[in-house]
Amino acid sequence: MNRDIIIALDFPGRQETLNFLDRFPAGEKPFVKIGMELFYAEGPDIVREIKARGHKIFLDLKLHDIPNTVKRAMSVLSRLDVDMVNLHAAGASEMMKAALEGLTRPDGTRPLLIAVTQLTSTDAAALKNELLIDTPMAETVLSYAKNAAGSGLDGVVCSPLEAALVKGRCGKGFLTVTPGIRFAGGDVGDQKRVMTPENAGENGCDFLVMGRPITKDPDPVAAYRRAVKEFLG
Ligand code: C5P
Repeated sequence: MNRDIIIALDFPGRQETLNFLDRFPAGEKPFVKIGMELFYAEGPDIVREIKARGHKIFLDLKLHDIPNTVKRAMSVLSRLDVDMVNLHAAGASEMMKAALEGLTRPDGTRPLLIAVTQLTSTDAAALKNELLIDTPMAETVLSYAKNAAGSGLDGVVCSPLEAALVKGRCGKGFLTVTPGIRFAGGDVGDQKRVMTPENAGENGCDFLVMGRPITKDPDPVAAYRRAVKEFLG
């Protein structure tokens, strides 16, 4: 099923990560995200270990390089048997197509490939004054999403507030993977534009990436189940 909650394993190392995963009963295996911090600290072994425990994995390494390099790197990542990986749409269509080729395993299967459009940390001033892009932010994001769809990618990372817009431009089947999710009345932290799991579901989000509302909860298993229930009903 292509709709799920993905828990961001934003931990500094293996032990903290396994301590967290051990809180879940043996039969409950949430979809998880491994980002740069954990991957650079522990290397591919942490991916193999979590996969062997039965979790689906989104490997969030945001590749961005010349097409041949990305293709070869993606080929390595696909051998780790992960379920979702990503890259920067700023690498342009030739790079995205090369990534898809590299990612496809000899048996024809491959992980989902998702594009990052503009980082949410890039504001309108940086877009205009540093990246020298005069097109408004929303239009830039949608244009990058369109390039990703046209290159055969499966979806984009975006704000839950943009999900309906992205689908309107790129098609209903184009996946939206959305961080910035908070429970009603919960701590927003450094996220500026947030949505509840229930509203994100109504807005057409396919995968919700949730970190602190689950990992920092005194009862993370209950928080995870609450998110699944609110999102999937
Ligand atoms: O703790 P929180 O729920 O805010 O975590 C969200 C996760 O999604 C983190 O791993 C964060 O790096 C990631 N993310 C984000 N905003 C983006 C892209 C990724 O919060 N625009």
